[in-house]
Amino acid sequence: MISKQIVFAAMALALAVAPLAGWQGKHPVSGRQIAPVMGVGGASWLVRAEREQEENPDLALKLLAIPEGSVVADLGAGVGYYSLKIAKIVGPKGKVYATDLQPEMLRMLRTRAQKAGIRNVETIPGAIDAANLPDGAMDIVLLVDVYHEFSEPQKMLRDIAKSLKPDGRLILLEFREEDPKVPIRPEHKMSVATAKKELEAEGYTFDKLIDGLPWQHILVFKGPAR
Ligand SMILES: C[S@@+](CC[C@H](N)C(=O)[O-])C[C@H]1O[C@@H](n2cnc3c(N)ncnc32)[C@H](O)[C@@H]1O
Repeated sequence: MISKQIVFAAMALALAVAPLAGWQGKHPVSGRQIAPVMGVGGASWLVRAEREQEENPDLALKLLAIPEGSVVADLGAGVGYYSLKIAKIVGPKGKVYATDLQPEMLRMLRTRAQKAGIRNVETIPGAIDAANLPDGAMDIVLLVDVYHEFSEPQKMLRDIAKSLKPDGRLILLEFREEDPKVPIRPEHKMSVATAKKELEAEGYTFDKLIDGLPWQHILVFKGPAR
């Protein structure tokens, strides 16, 4: 039986998703319906206390095992829920680039980082068709609940590829479409099959699937050969 808490979470997500990016087409390769961008009204949903239990981000990061000193892009960082946790993992020798389409999200992220005394996070304004990251510098580009919102997924993937180090990885953390018990709107979920189809079409190679999270799965891809 679905708990009351889960129903509230799903309702909150539904309310939080404002049609910020007007264009909501279908992916040209997979036919997937592209989701609307979560507006800044969803910021409180991103930092809800229940997120720890519902998504277990600390377990996600443990499963990712990001080495100290890594350079990580948290692309579509929102208010930096993951960015700040990753900043602590990579430490002062590492760096986090946090990007988002919405300046207000990045403003909140900077305030949160400042309050937490975190100095190794740099915010970068995002774009619908470009990652805006330094070339060849990223060990990891992480997309947490973001890829399905890209209104120009092919252009984004091509641009993200430029930012990866030769052995860098693009990592998608997405709500499992295959699991009907995950209480998230369908267009905000991604299946392994769809993600592989779309990323392989842009030259990415599927590396591995990491399971074990309550609602999400982690898909790791190698960038296109350059
Ligand atoms: C559902 S929120 C997830 C935020 C954050 N990753 C987290 O898990 O807390 C999706 C975020 O992706 C951002 N976004 C969507 N498309 C983007 C793009 N092309 N470039 C940068 N940010 C983008 C949105 O503005 C929104 O803040």
